[in-house]
Amino acid sequence: MSTTETAIASAEAHSAHNYHPLPVVVASAEGAWMTDVEGRRYLDLLAGYSALNFGHGNRRLIDAAKAQLDRVTLTSRAFFHDRFADFCTELAALCGMETVLPMNTGAEAVETAVKTARKWGYRVKGVPDGMAKIIVASDNFHGRTTTIVSFSTDPEARADFGPYTPGFEIVPYGDLTAMREAMTENTVAVLIEPIQGEAGVLVPPAGYLPGVRELTRERNVLFVADEIQSGLGRTGKTFALDHEGVVPDVYVLGKALGGGVVPVSAVVSSAEVLGVFRPGEHGSTFGGNPLACAVALEVIAMLRTGEYQARAAELGDHLHRELGLLTGGGAVEAVRGRGLWAGVDIAPALGTGREISEKLMERGVLVKDTHGSTIRIAPPLVISKEDLDWGLDRLRAVLGA
Ligand SMILES: Cc1ncc(COP(=O)(O)O)c(C=O)c1O
Repeated sequence: MSTTETAIASAEAHSAHNYHPLPVVVASAEGAWMTDVEGRRYLDLLAGYSALNFGHGNRRLIDAAKAQLDRVTLTSRAFFHDRFADFCTELAALCGMETVLPMNTGAEAVETAVKTARKWGYRVKGVPDGMAKIIVASDNFHGRTTTIVSFSTDPEARADFGPYTPGFEIVPYGDLTAMREAMTENTVAVLIEPIQGEAGVLVPPAGYLPGVRELTRERNVLFVADEIQSGLGRTGKTFALDHEGVVPDVYVLGKALGGGVVPVSAVVSSAEVLGVFRPGEHGSTFGGNPLACAVALEVIAMLRTGEYQARAAELGDHLHRELGLLTGGGAVEAVRGRGLWAGVDIAPALGTGREISEKLMERGVLVKDTHGSTIRIAPPLVISKEDLDWGLDRLRAVLGA
């Protein structure tokens, strides 16, 4: 057996099979490139589902982490530490908000947002106890906890994990009328992704997100934007909602906030909304730890310059122009997305998304399929135009285009 086969067999023998990875075993990575255990190089067009917006081994982020490792890594929230205030202040400023509640993973931040909205509903809006409703969209992906899968419409994510948490109303994504009809006086929040990543990089119809903003404001309902995958530069702006001039009541952030170095997530909102929490009502041992804060502070500083957003916008235009050309030739049925983020529906006759991903892997390009014949392209924002073109050449070759 090759080194790769041995490593995969051993991993398969001793890990739960809750993933179906491509058969590549990565040993090191830098920028947009990964190297496997046999020295083969691959262009990373997934970027850890957008957790690696700033690339592998980003010098600024690694240096910030190393410096913090030598000082203090964890205090728990039983004490303050000297990176916490800066992290909260800077992240709130980046979001144009006042208050930050740090967690670790995306799913935890979504759970935190759900708890925030419910408590705000009872304590501020005056919803009767136990009656709070949150409206979510079909084909959503907000994480894997039992509450979150309770309002998933994906049978794979949901089946066999009941009993399910009540209190959620599912309406079709992009349908403002359905959302308006689903709203009652007990609705406390609308929780949506401004662009649905896992669903295949679905961009809602023009006017939908401003419509959600107007409707939620009118009905005293919190607009909770899950920007875990769409935020922090990916679409060419700091937040996907920025494209629509929309400011939500609550941002839910994760992935790139930890720079691909440590898990960092957060709920960011007004002092009124996050002010509903009292000591003991919510928390996390690792949430807001010094190492996480040090890395995230560097991420925020990088985003404050605007250079990564500009790069995503410029290279994103190029990516979408090139992918657009493929739709004319029959190999690609549709391309969606914004900035350096694309969902590409391959003509089913050419293979499943998985088969296309495997063929790309053989040519040194790593992507991830999602649902049927769709592949997702989301390279690190630091990718060079030459490397992106190199990857696109391989895609064209695999599609015979
Ligand atoms: C929009 C969105 N929300 C939440 C999550 C969950 O994040 P995590 O995997 O860090 O729990 C994801 C992960 O893919 C996501 O894309």
